[in-house]
Amino acid sequence: MSDIIEVAEKKFNLRFEHSTENIVELFNKLYQNHPDAQTGFKNLLKIINNAFEKRSDILKNKDLSKQLNKEESWFLNNNLCGMSLYIDRFCGTINNLQKKLDYFETLGINLLHIMPVFESPQNESDGGYAVSDFRKIDKKYGTLKNLNALEKEMKQKGMYLMLDIVLNHTSNQHAWALKAKQGEKKYQDYFYFFNDRTIPDELEKTMPEVFPQNAPGNFTYVQELNKWVMTVFHNYQWDLNYRNPAVFNEMMDTIFFYANLGVDVLRIDAPAFIWKKNNTSGQNLEEAHSILQLIKQCVSVATPGMALLAEAIVAPTEIMKYFGTGKYLAQESDFAYNATQMALQWDALGTADIQVMLAAQEQILQKPYGTTWITYTRCHDDIGLGYDDKIIGDAGFNPYEHRRFLKEYYSGSYPNTPAKGALFSVNEKTGDARISGTLASLCGLEKALEHQNENEINTAIQKIILMQAQSFFIGGLPMLFYGDEQGYTNDYSYLNDSDKSYDNRWMHRPIIRWHDAYLEKNSIQNKIFTATQKLINLRKKLNVIADKKNLTWLNISNTKIAGFLRAWDNDRVYCVFNFSNTVTSISWYTFKQNDLVPKQLFDHWHQKLYSVGHDHEMLILQPYQFLILEPK
Ligand code: GLC
Repeated sequence: MSDIIEVAEKKFNLRFEHSTENIVELFNKLYQNHPDAQTGFKNLLKIINNAFEKRSDILKNKDLSKQLNKEESWFLNNNLCGMSLYIDRFCGTINNLQKKLDYFETLGINLLHIMPVFESPQNESDGGYAVSDFRKIDKKYGTLKNLNALEKEMKQKGMYLMLDIVLNHTSNQHAWALKAKQGEKKYQDYFYFFNDRTIPDELEKTMPEVFPQNAPGNFTYVQELNKWVMTVFHNYQWDLNYRNPAVFNEMMDTIFFYANLGVDVLRIDAPAFIWKKNNTSGQNLEEAHSILQLIKQCVSVATPGMALLAEAIVAPTEIMKYFGTGKYLAQESDFAYNATQMALQWDALGTADIQVMLAAQEQILQKPYGTTWITYTRCHDDIGLGYDDKIIGDAGFNPYEHRRFLKEYYSGSYPNTPAKGALFSVNEKTGDARISGTLASLCGLEKALEHQNENEINTAIQKIILMQAQSFFIGGLPMLFYGDEQGYTNDYSYLNDSDKSYDNRWMHRPIIRWHDAYLEKNSIQNKIFTATQKLINLRKKLNVIADKKNLTWLNISNTKIAGFLRAWDNDRVYCVFNFSNTVTSISWYTFKQNDLVPKQLFDHWHQKLYSVGHDHEMLILQPYQFLILEPK
């Protein structure tokens, strides 16, 4: 081991030397006019050094092994499949989660996104995204020791760990906020305070509201100080002031603390919001990108095995910038959520028309080589329809009417819609709204069960698997949301809990009832579980599915069917998806447009071999059917 550690140290020094110029450049860009810039910079260098010094030999070794394949980052691999979960709702405690590792192995999951576990006030928590102590595990989950034990066992099993850093804000119960409230100037400077409403009123003119219903406005009055503090999310989440280098350093140190816990992927929560400026939306600003680039430089030096994920759920062109631009192309975040694709799959499923989804692909395909997506159908948040009007227009629809249809369809108000969800964060001023609901309920399972209608149930299951299949094969790291693998429908118990009832996102954050229904052959849960398992296994078998920027959309003259080709060297896999409830078809010519013309295609999903027909002959697809076809 000591030889390896020597190598690790040498490499660290080289990386540090190599990156210093960038670190200086980015730090200066952000802080050169700040009176504390010099001390701030010195502290940052110390923080980077300390992070490496404190990193365990095991993690240093893991860093090296992750970098063995120079051509391809470890996280691009098709072998990876993740799941996001709330510990308390999934199984109670960290200890219990450790006992559930077999469950994930059975399903094929080898990366766990454990939703916020650090201390957060019971009543004003935003699901843990209002953190009152960045380094103390919330006692309802267990202790840091428990987390260490879990991480250790996961590592032994070859599983990866993903945690959040809630970068944009703290809880108003965080020590910094409490000290600020007691009048400590140092900590008041950690936040954005205003003596009166003059500046807030000015800023409100251009800053949108994130939660217009639950938390209107972007500022909260603090009685103890007779001042206003910036609170872009809930009024109990105080925005950190990244114009202050001390804030950056505190958070950088926290990021390293997480890295040294063994985190493999760090989910940077809400990075779009970390810089604010007059006359702007306060989102996606250049300085926010500089902060992320600076974080990336520091992490690459001291804890290079930890990949970064930017949770930027913003317009498609803006999402792309989180992979870095210009000199920092592919050097900002390694991952971003493919929120555009996720929402567009819901668009296609609701409208039985894939044209809007296709219209967006040119932009989505701009992602730089070496970076990748988190692909998903559902997560703990709502589904936003924030893709550009232009995309909808390009597909030939009226953006306003189109979105109105989707909102009605998924919230259940459209006549005879199979979906059962709800509108989230309706903005009376702009007419915007997002959508809440579980994968199963939005795909029609909840209503089908109410109707006790076998056909409807089967259709819903088919839709669930179709949605998962597309997100599993389109490229990126698929991230399941817990409960979806067993077809959990909406959970309305949140309505009886006053800490949650104001936020209908809780309807799609189920409490798992651990019984064995998912193991009972032919139960609904079992059908969904085994199909999900089969999808994961299939993905692991097909190397060409690894995200090497190797996707080409197929030209299909049928607006109900989406299809793409994944190709690398001589490997080819064609994936086609029928987003409609009708039997429909595509010409065999579909598979002849690209370089290699296959004679036979083997559908891995149904284990069926097809002979490729003449151009005028058709491949028939059943409602919501998909095929994963490999030339034979
Ligand atoms: C992120 C989280 C969301 C939370 C928000 C504020 O978007 O995913 O759940 O409400 O940040 O922290």
